[in-house]
Amino acid sequence: MTLMEKEFYVTDIKRSIGLTGESTFLIVEKEEKLTKADKPYLILTLRDKTGDIKAKVWSDSLSQVLGGNVGDVVKVSFEVGEYRDIAELTVSQMTPVSNINESDYQLARDDVDGAQLEINLAKWVDAVRDFHLRNLLESFLNDEDFFRLYTTYPAGERIHHAYRHGLLQHSLEVVNIADGLYQLNPDMHRDLLVTGGLLHDIGKIYEYTQDPLGVIGWTVEGRLLGHVVLGWMKIHHRISKEMPENLVNKLGHIVLSHQSKLEYGSPVIPKTREALAIAFSDKASMDFDIAKSLRLDSKDGDAFTEYNRYLGTDMYLG
Ligand SMILES: [Fe+2]
Ligand SMILES: [Fe+2]
Repeated sequence: MTLMEKEFYVTDIKRSIGLTGESTFLIVEKEEKLTKADKPYLILTLRDKTGDIKAKVWSDSLSQVLGGNVGDVVKVSFEVGEYRDIAELTVSQMTPVSNINESDYQLARDDVDGAQLEINLAKWVDAVRDFHLRNLLESFLNDEDFFRLYTTYPAGERIHHAYRHGLLQHSLEVVNIADGLYQLNPDMHRDLLVTGGLLHDIGKIYEYTQDPLGVIGWTVEGRLLGHVVLGWMKIHHRISKEMPENLVNKLGHIVLSHQSKLEYGSPVIPKTREALAIAFSDKASMDFDIAKSLRLDSKDGDAFTEYNRYLGTDMYLG
């Protein structure tokens, strides 16, 4: 069976206001709404590997919607318009399709190479000299199920590193940035920095689920406990009884304080330089990834990107 060729990608569509065409997309959100005149319409979030775009199906086109729920790939006829300065589609026809190439619909970054990330991961693990921390890392990474998820999961649904391999890309960025701080403060505990950086967000693996096309759902433990606490629970479970208590506490402190503030979901705020370094590096990695996504999503000729609520600003492109 030949796989369906995709015609237009989201990233190009966002730059093509006025374009009409047909292409296939994954439905990641679907909401039924009513207009002020009480007419039903649909708001969709459509995705391919290059990004997400909002789409609307107005009531006079609903008879041309021949199915399609969250998690399905559909072929749509569309026109590209703008709503509040952001490109969105008006869809006039929608039909589910099945003979698809899955990788066309999983968010990915061309410059993120999963195999290279795994090589970089192995180098950092190799650099850890502390027996207990090294054993802990190996206990995770030798677990095949964990390794597969850790090396392929996104770091989240949409805020930052929300693409295939994003969790590992982010974890390695955190370690690299923290290592820059270590170079300036070489009396910090480097093995603790590397281990804390690599493991700080592993709670995300247990916080949410992914279907084969990467659509994210939340687990009960994720919703009730959150990735910060959940991550430390999973780490603590693997820590050997021989690990010195002070080291256990300092590692736990890094994981539990990595969101830096109580109001950002950390139960404690950083009280060690290593925890400060990881919290700082976490924020730097996140902000720079958001800035990169904003630049990738901008249209030719734009002076500024879209506004981003996490950065609290738009970004200048000049
Ligand atoms: Fe986090
Ligand atoms: Fe993080």
